[in-house]
Amino acid sequence: EKGGHDYFMLKEIAEQPQAIADTLLGRLSERGEIVLDEVRLTDQDLRDVDKIFIVACGTSYHAGMVAKYAIEHWVRIPCEVELASEFRYRDPILDRSTLVVAISQSGESMDTLMALRHAKEQKARVLAICNTNGSTIPRESDAVLYTHGGPEIAVASTKAFLTQLVACYLIGLHLAQIRGVMYADEVSAVVEKLQQTPDSLRTLLGRMEEVRELARDLKTASTVLFIGRHVGYPVALEGALKLKELAYMHAEGFAAGELKHGPIALIDEGTPVVCVVPSPAGRGVMRDKVVSNIQEVRARGARTIVIAEEGDEDVRAFADHLIPVPATPTLLAPLMTTVPLQVLACEIAAARGHDVDQPRNLAKSVTVE
Ligand code: F6R
Repeated sequence: EKGGHDYFMLKEIAEQPQAIADTLLGRLSERGEIVLDEVRLTDQDLRDVDKIFIVACGTSYHAGMVAKYAIEHWVRIPCEVELASEFRYRDPILDRSTLVVAISQSGESMDTLMALRHAKEQKARVLAICNTNGSTIPRESDAVLYTHGGPEIAVASTKAFLTQLVACYLIGLHLAQIRGVMYADEVSAVVEKLQQTPDSLRTLLGRMEEVRELARDLKTASTVLFIGRHVGYPVALEGALKLKELAYMHAEGFAAGELKHGPIALIDEGTPVVCVVPSPAGRGVMRDKVVSNIQEVRARGARTIVIAEEGDEDVRAFADHLIPVPATPTLLAPLMTTVPLQVLACEIAAARGHDVDQPRNLAKSVTVE
């Protein structure tokens, strides 16, 4: 049942290329338009949207953080991301022209469900991104985009996360197109890049042996820090979350630029710091900033584990361990950079002798607030 893998988590990590391909399947019409499913909102409703809130928990929240970068960049509508458990207590300003996007693998997270009920009471439109057909969150939403990740058994979310990213990208592109901010050919150029990610991911998954070795090395670390910038920031948070929940180790993710405002004091001789480096193409400025952040932590004794685009040879000088990932456009990069972090957390947990698929104190679907 685990398809030759030691854990469901490893099986689900290996299924990610297929899960992405399945989630993309049939989404592009012959006219180059994005086709969403069960969208009971008219194009006019979507054109009237003037603000987007994304609500979710845990890993799904990290997908929402990535989505914000893509949606604001492509659609040019303000987009906020909020933890579902915080959303309604803040009394957010919502009305008919607000689109609330609820992201949930299980479709049953009570915090997310309560956030969406609150949004509906305030007359906002609710669009769900969900992996579980017929679950409560999509049933109560105005529209649904299903991720076709297939059942996820391991408690730690992996393939659901990557397919949530794909769904968010599709929603962003769809909104940009119907609102006339992007032309059909621009949209299909991005979709084409998305369609290449399963192959790139297969290549990447074929090279995880080094990550496994590294995991055996890191299993006794007392803390592991993760840094990233732009879409690499939520990836850093996600890497840290996976390590906490599976390996029961202290781990924390930071926006790389925030280090100097406090967290850099944590760095000691040998502290492992996982650094997610943006692509040198396009926004080279951002990549250079992260590289100087890597130099800063290294100068203070950190052991650097650097995730960078293959061919970015200059980072090698600052990396104690270099994990190259296939080139991908900046906004889509989390589809690559997250994967070594999933493998790392899984292997560290296994090396520490933990039950990778059923970590202590956690449930796959959290139906209490
Ligand atoms: C972490 C993890 C959790 C879930 C969170 C939301 O690996 O799996 O953080 O992402 O409980 O669950 P869903 O997406 O089902 O609402």
